[in-house]
Amino acid sequence: MARMLNGECGTISAERRAMCSSPVEPPSTMTLPAHRLAFILLLPLALLGCEEKKEAAIAPADIAAGKAVVEAQCIGCHGSDGSGAAPGIPDLAAQDADYLVASLAAYKAGTRTHAALQDLTGDLKDADMRNVAGFFASLPPLKAAAEPGIPPVLSPYEKGEAAAQACVRCHGEAGNSTIVGIPGLAGQQPRYFVSAVRAYLDGRRSIEGKEMLREMSHVDLESVALYYASQTPARREAPAFGDPAAGEPLSARCGGCHGAHGVSHDTSTPSLASQEPNYLVKAIKAYRDQTRQHNVMLDDNTDAEIENLVAFYTVQESAAAEGAATTVMDLADKCDRCHGAGVEQPTLTVPKIAGQDRAYLIKALRAYRDGKRGSSMMHSMSLPYSEAIIESVASYYASQPAR
Ligand code: HEC
Ligand code: HEC
Ligand code: HEC
Ligand code: HEC
Repeated sequence: MARMLNGECGTISAERRAMCSSPVEPPSTMTLPAHRLAFILLLPLALLGCEEKKEAAIAPADIAAGKAVVEAQCIGCHGSDGSGAAPGIPDLAAQDADYLVASLAAYKAGTRTHAALQDLTGDLKDADMRNVAGFFASLPPLKAAAEPGIPPVLSPYEKGEAAAQACVRCHGEAGNSTIVGIPGLAGQQPRYFVSAVRAYLDGRRSIEGKEMLREMSHVDLESVALYYASQTPARREAPAFGDPAAGEPLSARCGGCHGAHGVSHDTSTPSLASQEPNYLVKAIKAYRDQTRQHNVMLDDNTDAEIENLVAFYTVQESAAAEGAATTVMDLADKCDRCHGAGVEQPTLTVPKIAGQDRAYLIKALRAYRDGKRGSSMMHSMSLPYSEAIIESVASYYASQPAR
């Protein structure tokens, strides 16, 4: 037994090292606008019946027997008080017993993957699982991970606003550029924003002074993108060139991707409405002349057609690409519908996440987002979530008192 536990703990510390040292992975997705997220959340829970509680006609947990199993096999990592021994190991004290049984069964079945847990659960019978779950559920909640007086957790929008101060002198207040040839960033779609900055950094697009862009971490970049996405672009006057009325029919070929009036609804496709006109002309010509590469952009317009198209897009009213979920509490409101204190979900088995280990929360959310951990509900929740949002929300819940 001792030998096995050592072996297992070796696995864990390697994992922990990886978790502490690895930089944040690139996201597979960026965010959906808040209204679409809200729509997903409002889907009738009945449609998502997969995690419905089964009426259990089974023997109640034997807590003393559960404690014996835990002391023999689990306390090296989960502590006798149910507290995770290292970052990345979840706290189990006071966790929902049905949820614990379900998660142990998922490791055993291999629908949740973790080498150590799969080995350990392989030997556990159903009754053992109920007993250990009953034991951990019976423990008192751990005290809050965070000390009182720590600064409040910032949302990506708030972090992004601070980091965007470096961009104001060119891109204007709140991303409303007033300088000829410099694009506005207000209301821009966040995935497009991130990919545009990447294109400058790796040389696919050219820009002067890209050092300042290089200084941003990936999470900072996503935060800045989310901040700008949530700003409302100011309206613009028609440019001195081109004819908006002549541009409108030409824009029919663009609307399928860029939105009817240049207000994009796709996080990877830029909005064109209210954009700075000289910049737009330059950008469209850059695709045509192949100094900017892209396989989907149309590149057969004449100079005069481009000017008319740009005149049309410049005078269109634009909109913010992201809703107003500005603080981390706004973000957590969506989660608290299921995970909040005192929320009863009679048809759902919902784990407690307040006070949980931060590294574990991040790992769990990435696993749902990337489809590596089965839960139709959490997958649709976390799919739109960028690394920046996952980190903020995880920090927030980790800092809350456990219940
Ligand atoms: C080698 C260290 C180690 C040992 C020993 C260990 N665990 Fe874990 N446990 C972990 C880690 C790490 C995770 C998170 C795995 C993941 O990311 O899915 C975990 C996750 C869990 C979860 C899922 C919790 C949740 O919130 O979803 C349960 C339940 C659990 N362990 C129970 C047990 C039980 C019961 C035992 C003893 C039979 C045990 N563990 C032994 C490290 C360990
Ligand atoms: C010195 C002036 C300057 C500063 C400071 C600056 N930019 Fe820019 N930025 C530009 C110019 C000029 C372009 C257009 C380049 C081109 O023609 O592709 C641009 C383009 C962009 C684009 C692409 C917009 C689009 O619609 O494709 C993004 C995104 C961007 N900048 C982000 C930033 C961020 C974030 C910062 C602050 C960290 C920043 N910029 C600071 C001058 C600047
Ligand atoms: C098949 C979808 C599609 C169609 C059709 C399309 N675009 Fe695009 N467009 C894109 C995508 C995707 C990008 C982002 C490319 C990149 O990352 O450089 C883009 C980028 C642009 C940009 C750069 C915006 C910026 O902020 O730098 C402009 C300007 C533009 N398109 C104008 C047009 C016009 C005008 C038309 C119609 C003549 C058109 N596009 C048709 C998908 C499309
Ligand atoms: C509609 C209800 C619902 C909403 C809303 C919801 N969750 Fe969940 N969450 C669940 C369920 C059910 C599970 C258990 C899924 C499973 O068995 O893996 C879960 C599991 C989790 C877990 C894994 C916990 C553990 O111990 O392994 C985390 C972390 C989590 N949710 C965080 C969040 C966050 C952050 C949000 C808001 C962005 C959120 N959830 C919104 C229902 C919900």
